Amino acid sequence: MCGIIGYNGTADATPLLLDGLQKLEYRGYDSAGIAVYDNDEIDVVKSRGKIEDLRQKIAKGHVPHGTLGIGHTRWATHGQPSDDNAHPHYSASRKFAVVHNGIIENFAERKEELLKKGYVFHSETDTEVVAMLLDENDCGDFLRTVLKTLSQLTGSFALGVLCQDEPETMICAKRSCPLLVAVSDEGNYIASDITAVLAHTRHMYKMEDDEVAVVGKDSIAFYNTDGEPIGKQLETVTWDVSAAEKGGYPHFMIKEIMEQPEAVRNTFSPRITEDGTVKLDDIDLTDDMIRGFHKINIVGCGSAYHVGLVARYVIEQLARIPVEVDLASEFRYRYPLVDEHTLTIVISQSGETADSLEALREAKRLGSRTLSVVNVVGSSIATESDDVLYTWAGPEISVATTKAYSTQLIVMDLLAIRFALATGALSPSAAAEILAEMEKLPGKIEKIFEQTDKIERIAESFTFLHHAYFIGRNIDYAVGLEASLKLKEVSYIHSEAYAGGELKHGTISLIEPGTQVVALCGCERLVDKTVSNAKELMARGAHVLGIAVEGNTDVQNIADKVIYIPETLPVLQPSLEIVPMQLLGYYTAVARKCDVDQPRNLAKSVTVE
Ligand code: M6R
Repeated sequence: MCGIIGYNGTADATPLLLDGLQKLEYRGYDSAGIAVYDNDEIDVVKSRGKIEDLRQKIAKGHVPHGTLGIGHTRWATHGQPSDDNAHPHYSASRKFAVVHNGIIENFAERKEELLKKGYVFHSETDTEVVAMLLDENDCGDFLRTVLKTLSQLTGSFALGVLCQDEPETMICAKRSCPLLVAVSDEGNYIASDITAVLAHTRHMYKMEDDEVAVVGKDSIAFYNTDGEPIGKQLETVTWDVSAAEKGGYPHFMIKEIMEQPEAVRNTFSPRITEDGTVKLDDIDLTDDMIRGFHKINIVGCGSAYHVGLVARYVIEQLARIPVEVDLASEFRYRYPLVDEHTLTIVISQSGETADSLEALREAKRLGSRTLSVVNVVGSSIATESDDVLYTWAGPEISVATTKAYSTQLIVMDLLAIRFALATGALSPSAAAEILAEMEKLPGKIEKIFEQTDKIERIAESFTFLHHAYFIGRNIDYAVGLEASLKLKEVSYIHSEAYAGGELKHGTISLIEPGTQVVALCGCERLVDKTVSNAKELMARGAHVLGIAVEGNTDVQNIADKVIYIPETLPVLQPSLEIVPMQLLGYYTAVARKCDVDQPRNLAKSVTVE
């Protein structure tokens, strides 16, 4: 997630671009820049920091003047937030300037080829490869040059491009990232979302994958990637600014739930080679180092801790390395047995959570190698750990985490496979089978979304509950803890998760007629056990909502209601099982008229102990 705006018209582009970027700042805010066609040259100004920092840099320095320009606000993926990594990026000849959202998956291969040809790169970004390829493919025809370049890219992108030879034209293209072309009386715009241009127009063409637009001052032509013209329908949006920021959704939480297929894909795909194996070349752990670890410690807070609990099952099952999981706030005070034979993994969306940061420091002090799984590039935890694997979820605005949790699961699965290959616990062909299944997860999550209406109706029946209990065993129990947190933090209904086998050791006394229980039955191996537990609870008057894998009729036979999730490998089931639970929490909170995105007493980033 980053923000793109472009303008081609009759007005001064710089203030329009800066105002548009300000509206897009929620999509990314670590650096920003603009490129304006000014006196036969493309003038680029960019700055680390917020749009305000860019404004000040422009105000204090040179103000580009022109009526054609592109702008970008960045959420770092490849490379730290910095002036050099900010967009737009020039091509080597400075003939082209590019802004980009998304991830170019084959950027490393393309970069290597370009380096061999003598290209010099000034940033660590994947985007600069696109700029250099435009020079490499330059045939004197702007559109053909862009089309050839697109044909060499894999991954996701929304691109805006300027060319020095074309003072009247900008080109944009998209694949798997949102982009639109908007029409106003003073000219045409490109934008990653309508928020950027709502002050000027509500008329837009929504671009589809593999479409290219040549945008003039008063003309717009659309093409497919073969360069054939295509027709498109002008649409008019009725959203206000707040709805537009949320992509038309009423809350960021539901928008972010719906973004999970893309977030999972972005986190997974770039780490898979063409021959289907895992490549974590962002970390420096060798096979020997992995084999040298006697134990893995995972620490995190809240949902990040819950990811650690899932990962324990996955790593121990696949790699056969012992795993301990701690709440970061407990780990730092428990005199942990950690040394140079331990790998400590810190999981954190923000990378700034005080307890997780201190746990990381404690582990380092004790001699452990550290690896962090973080969403915010350049954050303290990412910077201080020996290795970092980023979850490319994009900015998460809602306090209740959804897409960050899901991408953390993916990274931990990839790590488990990497460890298992190093220890020899998993053969390359078995690893390839798991990876092939992982590739299908985004599509399966989309399939779960088809039941959104049904889940919303179930959530309505939760509206007046005082308590809810989630039960499951093993990996289902770990998911239950997150499901319970999702419900309670946004709807304020008291809820707890229990390991199914523990019920008889005390908790079952809480059950009375009408008590709501959610039975997580994704774990194929233990589904019968959980079903038996659910039966025991129903016998005491509980209402049971079952979460089961498609085709499992046992759960249907006992539960009042069942939400089915698609089948996948047992170790991957949490990635699917959590999705209806997030929807359940969300719609229950909506039905109870709670402040979904900013639940009372909570903050997105907990930077104090
Ligand atoms: O930024 P972090 O991942 O380190 O935050 C940790 C927890 O505060 C966080 O996961 C919290 O539990 C979630 N916002 C709950 O949805």
